[in-house]
Amino acid sequence: MTHNPDTQTALITGAATGIGYAVAQAFLNQGANVVLNGRTESKLQHAAKQLGHPDRVATIAGDITQAATADKLVNTAVQRFGGIDVLINNAGIFSMKPFTDYTVDEVDSFLGYVRGTFVLSQSAVRRFREQGNGGSIVNISTILALNGVAGITSSAPIVAKGGITAMTKNLSAELAEDNIRINAVAPGIVPTPLYGDLTDEQLNALHDLQPLGRYGTPKDIADAVLYLANAQWVTGVILPVDGGVDAGGDGTTRRKTPELEPATA
Ligand SMILES: NC(=O)c1ccc[n+]([C@@H]2O[C@H](COP(=O)([O-])OP(=O)(O)OC[C@H]3O[C@@H](n4cnc5c(N)ncnc54)[C@H](OP(=O)(O)O)[C@@H]3O)[C@@H](O)[C@H]2O)c1
Repeated sequence: MTHNPDTQTALITGAATGIGYAVAQAFLNQGANVVLNGRTESKLQHAAKQLGHPDRVATIAGDITQAATADKLVNTAVQRFGGIDVLINNAGIFSMKPFTDYTVDEVDSFLGYVRGTFVLSQSAVRRFREQGNGGSIVNISTILALNGVAGITSSAPIVAKGGITAMTKNLSAELAEDNIRINAVAPGIVPTPLYGDLTDEQLNALHDLQPLGRYGTPKDIADAVLYLANAQWVTGVILPVDGGVDAGGDGTTRRKTPELEPATA
């Protein structure tokens, strides 16, 4: 099958649940083909069934932290749909614990996501160049890579997101001559299976963070991903989609710090 640049093909890692699933839905709604990746075959099959459009959906299980997975994913897009136009580096994991409690193995595990994102982006860029029509990469970072927030202690995952964020800025300059754009969304807190292991106390610490006063939804993030994927004159942008955390600071502090209350006579 040859590449048809008029029908977009998007490869989405971590697409069986949460934000990745909503991104897949958004691309399908605009007529694109999607390749869904995740580590768990049964979750991918369930997601594909829920999404419908079997003629425009492919699945490929694989762990993106393993370098060999990268070419497998891109080759799936090429074999099934003739090429790849957009890569969404979305797969991720999370944990919260004090800085000094993280083990070296845990740090390595999170850093594997930077390596995986790097290597998969290399595979996609090689393919974009072969196709000769440019291409688009959207990375999923986090607002916590841009703002430290007291009470959300998650240094190991955030260091990995920091690498992905720096890669976004740096590569946007290097890849521009091939009309390959690379941007990132930096989400605030969006309830998804990502937080499955957190305690109620940890979840409560996240709730009041956003000045707009609510959690985000996977669709809030997917809308921004779709915009960046399609915005032909936008590259190197880290777009906060965070209910105002980046602009307004920590909603908890803003609403509850006693010194900010009006003085009573
Ligand atoms: N939710 C938030 O508040 C929030 C905030 C900021 C940033 N983010 C980022 O948004 C992204 C999506 O998270 P989410 O909230 O939608 O969580 P989620 O529902 O848990 O989705 C993450 C997906 O990634 C897959 N995955 C994890 N490790 C993988 C690996 N090594 N290789 C391939 N797939 C892998 C998981 O499926 P398997 O377990 O089957 O592999 C899962 O379906 C993550 O990068 C996360 O860090 C989320």
